[in-house]
Amino acid sequence: MHLSQLRLQNFRCFEAADLQPDPAINVITGDNASGKTTLLEAIYFLGRGQSFRQSGPRPAIRAGENAFTVTAEIAVPDGRSHRLGVSRDKRGIRYRRDGNSDTSRIDLINTLPLQMVGPNVHRLLEQGPRYRRHFLDWGVFHVEHAFFPAWRRFRRALKQRNRALKARLPKADIVVWDAELVRAAEIVDASRRAYIDHLYNNLPAQAAKLLGDEPIVLEYDCGWRGEDGYGAALAAGLDQDTRAGFTQQGPHRADLRVSIASAAARDWVSRGQQKILTTAMLLTQARLLHARRHVQPVLLIDDMAAELGVRYRQVLAEEIASLGGQCFLTFLEPQLVPDVIKQGAMFHVERGAVTRG
Ligand SMILES: Nc1ncnc2c1ncn2[C@@H]1O[C@H](COP(=O)(O)OP(=O)(O)O)[C@@H](O)[C@H]1O
Ligand SMILES: [Mg+2]
Repeated sequence: MHLSQLRLQNFRCFEAADLQPDPAINVITGDNASGKTTLLEAIYFLGRGQSFRQSGPRPAIRAGENAFTVTAEIAVPDGRSHRLGVSRDKRGIRYRRDGNSDTSRIDLINTLPLQMVGPNVHRLLEQGPRYRRHFLDWGVFHVEHAFFPAWRRFRRALKQRNRALKARLPKADIVVWDAELVRAAEIVDASRRAYIDHLYNNLPAQAAKLLGDEPIVLEYDCGWRGEDGYGAALAAGLDQDTRAGFTQQGPHRADLRVSIASAAARDWVSRGQQKILTTAMLLTQARLLHARRHVQPVLLIDDMAAELGVRYRQVLAEEIASLGGQCFLTFLEPQLVPDVIKQGAMFHVERGAVTRG
């Protein structure tokens, strides 16, 4: 699965851009503020329906214009293709697949699975569990098909229970949601555990290739306390939930902590190591998706050379090349591009214009 064509209209600094990407490696070089991250952002919009930048989709409309459109042709392995589009105007954002305006974000995610290593990748290790849950659930979503319907049911029941807690309704009106929460949570938890087993089996080898002899540690926290299951945890936490006005335990609080064993002991990891470790996590997910579902996600790596010395750049480039999927990699300077990925298509951006080298 890969993008065979990408078109941007009035997207940030691009008035119009049209690219025919390589099915494997695409290298994008350009000076600061030339539009490299913006190209990745446009692809990200197609696969996720939203931006990875904090500001939301509105500011992505080119200054002075009323709307942006990003479209792409997605070639799928059986020889067919899909046309994806995302557009945004004053009224809101719209998604299209094969001309169908009744397209949801989930349709985009399913049609164009993609992973991004961006400037915020450190959050995965450094910040709260939300980013790690997001990382985990991306993989679980694509690989464990029982996950998403159960997750959706869980979110609905949780909303109702929290509403009852917030309104200080009698206990009977709160615990009435518990059975549904427990049923859904058990499926969510089992799907996550099954996926984490695969991560356990594959991540250390991937990380070892990139980081060398640095054992890594994965710790899963299911989001509730005690050994007697979620139902018991909900019952035991009811008084606390009533005081807090929301449900404090559950799979919505799960976490997957990842660390380098020796670094945990010395209490720090260098920025470069963080970037390599998080990239190893994403590459492992890409390999798992391919092994389990025969789908190669598109990989976006922004400013690949940043924070990495020659050796890390070299091994990372070799790993990316060996994946075999489509990737888009940006670099500030052509000299920073490792040789093994120079075989791909080279694009150069300059003030909102893309040329193929
Ligand atoms: N809505 C917008 N309209 C016009 N230009 C924009 C808009 N948003 C961002 N830009 C400009 O787009 C340029 C490209 O930014 P970016 O893709 O982050 O560059 P790079 O990653 O190459 O450093 C910047 O000069 C920025 O000012
Ligand atoms: Mg950038």
